Amino acid sequence: MNDSKIAINGFFGRMGQSIFKLSKKNNFKVTVGCDKQEKLSQESEVLLLSSLSSNPDSFDVVIDFSLPEPSINVVKVCEALSKPITIGTTGFNRTQKDQLLAASKNIPLLFAPNMSLGVNATLKSISELSKLLLNYKVSIEETHHKNKIDSPSGTALKIAEVVAEARGINPEKIDIKSFREDGEIGVHKTIFKSNDDEIIIYHNAYNREIFALGALETSQWIAKQKPGFYTYKDYMEDVS
Ligand SMILES: NC(=O)c1ccc[n+]([C@@H]2O[C@H](COP(=O)([O-])OP(=O)(O)OC[C@H]3O[C@@H](n4cnc5c(N)ncnc54)[C@H](O)[C@@H]3O)[C@@H](O)[C@H]2O)c1
Repeated sequence: MNDSKIAINGFFGRMGQSIFKLSKKNNFKVTVGCDKQEKLSQESEVLLLSSLSSNPDSFDVVIDFSLPEPSINVVKVCEALSKPITIGTTGFNRTQKDQLLAASKNIPLLFAPNMSLGVNATLKSISELSKLLLNYKVSIEETHHKNKIDSPSGTALKIAEVVAEARGINPEKIDIKSFREDGEIGVHKTIFKSNDDEIIIYHNAYNREIFALGALETSQWIAKQKPGFYTYKDYMEDVS
């Protein structure tokens, strides 16, 4: 049942709007759109707010796709209001990641630098291959649209983390190349290379709906969890 009322932080952004459009098609209840004050003059069918603390009864759970600083701020609001949150924003620094971890002691918090089922399924294969192919050099290539702020992408960093964890090494040892091209939603290649052969795990996002669906589905799931830090993998393993 998709009965938890959703507030979207970063409502007028590319992802915020993609999530809102998909929510209407798939019967999720988005009740609040939160964004910077200067964007709120636009028309919308939902309640528009510049701060979620001003209207706590109008939503049950938050979906955040904004920027690291506004994301940390909205997490603090969620903590104060005891509301669960699912976060797709990327580009957090170490201190900000620690702030997310600290907040998750008090509220259910899901953080997924990639909300698509497809990428998260490939992470399982990447982990397995990293163990099986210990002598293969692993490198990552990612391509995104030119407006993307963070580089490397959160997904590329997540892939590096998965490889490093499987091999017991430091993720910084893994080479990541980032490209920015007009129109690319997100392409990730994880390359396993020996002297004799090469294996490439390739994911190409054709549209933002794959992330929007993950955000909507995890919002309903996180709303039913106990306080703690969750990833898309926790969600995927619980529902499969
Ligand atoms: N996890 C995933 O699957 C996934 C997929 C795509 C994008 N992302 C990430 O999501 C984030 C947003 O991406 P986008 O392409 O939608 O960006 P965008 O720039 O189109 O949208 C960001 C929105 O956040 C708003 N914002 C800025 N400051 C704010 C504040 N103080 N309070 C509320 N809203 C504020 C902006 O006005 C804008 O509307 C980025 O970090 C991106 O890397 C993650």
